[in-house]
Amino acid sequence: MKASQFLVSTLKEAPADAEVVSHKLMMRAGMIKKLGAGIYNYMPMGLRVIRKVEAIVREEMNRAGAVELSMPVVQPAELWQETGRFEKMGPELLRIKDRHERDFVVQPTSEEVVTDIARQEIRSYKQLPKNFYQIQTKFRDERRPRFGLMRGREFIMKDAYSFDRDQVAAKASYQVMAQAYRRIFDRFGLSYRAVSADSGAIGGDLSEEFQVIAATGEDAIVYCPGSDYAANIEKAEALAPQGPRPAPTQVLTKAATPGKTTCPEVAELLDVSLQSTVKSLVLATDEITDKEQIGKTTIWLLLLRGDHDMNEVKLGKVPGLDTGFRFATAEEIEAHFGCQPGYLGPVGLKKPLNIVADREVAVMADWVCGANEMDFHLTGVNWGRDLPEPDLVADIRNVVAGDLSPDGQGVLAIERGIEVGHVFYLGTKYSKAMNATFLDENGKPQFMEMGCYGIGITRLPAAAIEQNHDERGIIWPDAIAPFTVVLCPISPERSPEVKAAGEQLYAELLAAGVDVLLDDRGERPGAMFADWELIGVPHRVTIGDRALKEGQVEYQHRRDAAATKVPVAEALAFLKSRLGL
Ligand SMILES: Nc1ncnc2c1ncn2[C@@H]1O[C@H](COP(=O)(O)OP(=O)(O)O)[C@@H](O)[C@H]1O
Ligand SMILES: [Mg+2]
Repeated sequence: MKASQFLVSTLKEAPADAEVVSHKLMMRAGMIKKLGAGIYNYMPMGLRVIRKVEAIVREEMNRAGAVELSMPVVQPAELWQETGRFEKMGPELLRIKDRHERDFVVQPTSEEVVTDIARQEIRSYKQLPKNFYQIQTKFRDERRPRFGLMRGREFIMKDAYSFDRDQVAAKASYQVMAQAYRRIFDRFGLSYRAVSADSGAIGGDLSEEFQVIAATGEDAIVYCPGSDYAANIEKAEALAPQGPRPAPTQVLTKAATPGKTTCPEVAELLDVSLQSTVKSLVLATDEITDKEQIGKTTIWLLLLRGDHDMNEVKLGKVPGLDTGFRFATAEEIEAHFGCQPGYLGPVGLKKPLNIVADREVAVMADWVCGANEMDFHLTGVNWGRDLPEPDLVADIRNVVAGDLSPDGQGVLAIERGIEVGHVFYLGTKYSKAMNATFLDENGKPQFMEMGCYGIGITRLPAAAIEQNHDERGIIWPDAIAPFTVVLCPISPERSPEVKAAGEQLYAELLAAGVDVLLDDRGERPGAMFADWELIGVPHRVTIGDRALKEGQVEYQHRRDAAATKVPVAEALAFLKSRLGL
């Protein structure tokens, strides 16, 4: 490609709405152009990166035995009504009507359509397993589209769906994908981690996210440096507290804590550690009657150590809270505690309620909590002595760095990541809802076992930039760079030798199959270099009059501090070896 034919359109300044570095640099490098909130044009420079990402994904999916198809972006609502998702999904699902007032959706994912295909095409166990995938436009009407391609409303996803005869075979298909994903992410040349994720109601460990490590990532990922334990924060567990609860050493005392409503404030005032305080969170569950009316409401008190945060996913697995919960209202709290939030606690309650103590709180002695009286807390609180043992003890908190790893191999560390892929075992959720069956060896219909596997094709370049950039711009890994090599002749209009050497190296590299761009725009050297450093082409060759007179060109990798002189005659071989060709 010659730069004069291509579209190179860089900007000095990033638009004001670009918050993260990848968004700023993609805008400045002319890779994307905003059309609306969360909706972008993929400009020629950006599309080249996207196509390279797609090519790697396609190659590895094919290698793993998946078959490509393409499903419509606009899908009839009937299929989505079969699974109930047309009604159940929130406003993320874009619902539209055609000229006949018929309902449609713009696909946010395609379980319904692919299951419809499978139930028509797959009749016998002999046709299984099958894995269908597509690389296709998705639309999710995200509440907060932001960070450019990172969280768009329209984006491209690779979505794959496996169909199997039974659970054993489905788990094998899942493992094939989990391995293919490792090959894919290795090829991108990014530092990533596969972390186990919550698998919803199904349980088990068959859900993994592929996270690109980046300080700006939205997700907290937990890992053990001494082992291969890794999980996202929703799922991560610490080793259960060891040993018996210590015996009480303090007497129960009421302490004045005027205006101190948080654990850190109380700990500071009373000069105790934050770890000896307990915070109270009040939830409510509503029974729904046959007539869809709200029946009995139950109030729940959650107790967490002052330095710990509640984990909603874990909480959602506590018996009684597993059908949904909400925060209690101010009136409900007043009625049960006789006091407003800030001074709540489990001692001497007015009305009975369900108490769930985090595992860590259950083994504490001599702790501090609210006295259920404005401006007062209790110190020296002890289970069994000052209040009954907790009704329920469960792991309901997020782990923190320094917690013991559940495998006993050291302490946990936390880093930030960007979710770029997700593999998930679905079971028969969709096949049952849509009656997708096949006939087994005995001629008996059986529901298909399914798995689904996504990769955020357009999120990946953004994640790559978050991980690979400097103050001058992007630094692409070779595998997904818009161009692998850029040739920069200096003032070729003044030197026929420079012009000819540039043209010749360009022709040689093209013939060797290198994705090379010749910058023939006639830009001044400073502007030319600034453009390619911003755009992030990893390998640059400068062809200047002076070096050329000595028979040399200058090579510089985007990460190199200075250029290396290379004899013109060896330039091709030198580049090929740098590119691993
Ligand atoms: N709004 C979005 N913009 C860009 N990529 C997205 C978006 N939502 C999801 N993706 C990508 O698609 C992949 C599969 O999506 P999925 O796991 O269904 O999404 P989520 O984790 O948001 O529920 C994600 O791992 C992510 O890389
Ligand atoms: Mg996901």
